[in-house]
Amino acid sequence: MEVTRDNIYTNDANFFLDDCKESGIESDMIFTDPPYGVSNKKNKTITRPYWTDIEMHYGEWDVFDDKKELLAFTFNWIDKAHLILKDGGFFASFFDSDHINFISAYLKSKYKYKVKNLIAWCKTDPTPQYHGKKLQNGWEMIGIWQKPSSFDDKGKPFYEDLFRKDHHQHPDWIHTAIISGKERASATIYPDRYKYKVSKSLRRISVNPSEKGLKNINENIWNGKKEKKPIRHPNQKPMKVCELVIRYFSKMDDLIVDPFCGSGSIPLSCKDNYRDFIANDIDKLWTYIAKYRMKVFTSTRKLYSFI
Ligand SMILES: C[S@@+](CC[C@H](N)C(=O)[O-])C[C@H]1O[C@@H](n2cnc3c(N)ncnc32)[C@H](O)[C@@H]1O
Repeated sequence: MEVTRDNIYTNDANFFLDDCKESGIESDMIFTDPPYGVSNKKNKTITRPYWTDIEMHYGEWDVFDDKKELLAFTFNWIDKAHLILKDGGFFASFFDSDHINFISAYLKSKYKYKVKNLIAWCKTDPTPQYHGKKLQNGWEMIGIWQKPSSFDDKGKPFYEDLFRKDHHQHPDWIHTAIISGKERASATIYPDRYKYKVSKSLRRISVNPSEKGLKNINENIWNGKKEKKPIRHPNQKPMKVCELVIRYFSKMDDLIVDPFCGSGSIPLSCKDNYRDFIANDIDKLWTYIAKYRMKVFTSTRKLYSFI
């Protein structure tokens, strides 16, 4: 399929990246937020002290049998993303702290990438640790790696000057809350009108709703309930965090590719900062929300809206 700028596609990331390659896409930056196996299948939700539930099981797409399966999946899409990234371009990805070093080692040893930075998103309202057996985890990481190039970029400044006078530095952290309030995107789905399908076994291979063996997602999301219900992406990332990475490591009019866009925070941050994007997610429900957010933004330049 022909892939073009400023569009959001629904496909398996591997097929999407193959399509990008075949369409001659050369991206200035890869910036994404892929599955990294942090779902908790046993404790599906935990309740905060003021009785709001926190989703701990994000979906079958985030469940891996073991580390080997997670890394095989990750290295596979990284190999394909590498092929469409320009020399000297930045490769940025959210990832969990237990495994981010495996990406650094892979990119360094196989493709000679430079580890540029690890940026910390420090949450001002982190999820509580009820059992007290581990420390409360209040931050997430974004790895930044740079593809080698023939030109010498030693000492190259960050693209946009976000110099903090109070620190005399470009900080590698950002403080902001978990997504909430007006920025939180949601869709109201009517189960009788909207049949939605996803497959566990095919989740990393293809998404062709006409194939046999696909399960009805209503079972997972709705638990058999028949009434309408608002649905929110369990991992929507704050635009403020995405924007920091985009402004440090890309220029205006650059092309940024996000193969796992979810509800579209990265492509939306690209547009808000005058970058082009090509985005994709395997799940039609999330690309529906991402496209809707993008439509509202391009027609009104309003970033926050409810669906
Ligand atoms: C961590 S979420 C991205 C959230 C996004 N940054 C946002 O702000 O909404 C990862 C996304 O990857 C998608 N995904 C999982 N497996 C995939 C695959 N094989 N190909 C493409 N997308 C996939 C999931 O549907 C999910 O929306």
